[in-house]
Amino acid sequence: MTTTRQNVAELIGNTDLLKVQSLSNLTGCDIYVKCEFQNPGGSIKDRAALQMVKDAMESGDLKPGMTIVEGTAGNTGIGLALVAKALGFKMLTVMPSGQTPEKERMIALHGSELHLVDPCPFADDNHFYHTARRIAEQNDNYWWANQFENTSNMRAHYLHTGPEIWQQTDGKIDAIVSVCGTAGTIGGTSKYLKQQDSNIKCWLVDPDGSGIYHYLKQGTYQSSGSSFTEGIGIMRTVANFREANIDKAINLPDQDLVTVSRAVRDADGLVLGSSSALNLAGALMVAAKSGKGKTIVTFACDLGERSYSKLYNADFLKQKDIDENKESIETLFERYKASDDKAIVNV
Ligand SMILES: Cc1ncc(COP(=O)(O)O)c(C=O)c1O
Repeated sequence: MTTTRQNVAELIGNTDLLKVQSLSNLTGCDIYVKCEFQNPGGSIKDRAALQMVKDAMESGDLKPGMTIVEGTAGNTGIGLALVAKALGFKMLTVMPSGQTPEKERMIALHGSELHLVDPCPFADDNHFYHTARRIAEQNDNYWWANQFENTSNMRAHYLHTGPEIWQQTDGKIDAIVSVCGTAGTIGGTSKYLKQQDSNIKCWLVDPDGSGIYHYLKQGTYQSSGSSFTEGIGIMRTVANFREANIDKAINLPDQDLVTVSRAVRDADGLVLGSSSALNLAGALMVAAKSGKGKTIVTFACDLGERSYSKLYNADFLKQKDIDENKESIETLFERYKASDDKAIVNV
């Protein structure tokens, strides 16, 4: 049945849950992805954008005629830009340079002003986060969304994404698996789902170059290596993360997400973005460690067209010393089954 909507923001949410047949057949588990690329801005961040704007309108912090400003790796900027248009606001996106040009283009296409800053550590005052904050502090007419500390972000997933998953699986779910950027997704869904059934396990998948895995293991933020993924990984504890109810954490390298991205592209017709492929690599690990018969849900946060110039660019991968033919998905699964359990952090 189709439904009539009044504006593009109303298209956000209610995404399908898709069984990934190839990985389900391989593992003997039911592995599902929540199709967040179905949101009108093409990513899971549309949900956070809409909830943050709605809550700020309701509280009176965001008033008609104001400009929304946000620091973002890109997808939140796209989401906020389309919500801003739909609800009558202007939008200024502050983004570090070096993210894929695909996202910069979409932000501009959605009518947002785009302010690029040089990438730098969080402690530097020129970091995109501080730049967005400063712009709002210096202009009464700007409202800063602040997706990291604004818990309307996780509320989007607590109020909607989590309940959708619960309903779509009829409550038969053993594990959720998620990467973490602002922690809105893992915060809201883990909180909701574990309130319904405390036996559901929540697994966090961290890329190289991020400090969350080490933080959950040893209490301090340290990272090793680097990752070409965007929008995920962090080196500090933010408000949305404090809401998360995490059981296990793993760290996986970019090589594995590349292997998984090719496998589901070729077998399932799913051309995923980098964080989504990492989510599925995480789901494969969960299946390897949990045994057959489990229902595992993760997120297709965006599609490959947003990662095209990195994840699907042979020259780029070569520079990173990543081989898309390094191993088959079957070999990866066997390797995960044989991998040391001590590498899994019990939170
Ligand atoms: C493609 C993609 N995947 C995952 C995430 C992480 O989601 P969250 O911020 O809810 O942790 C982001 C965040 O920007 C993203 O852009």
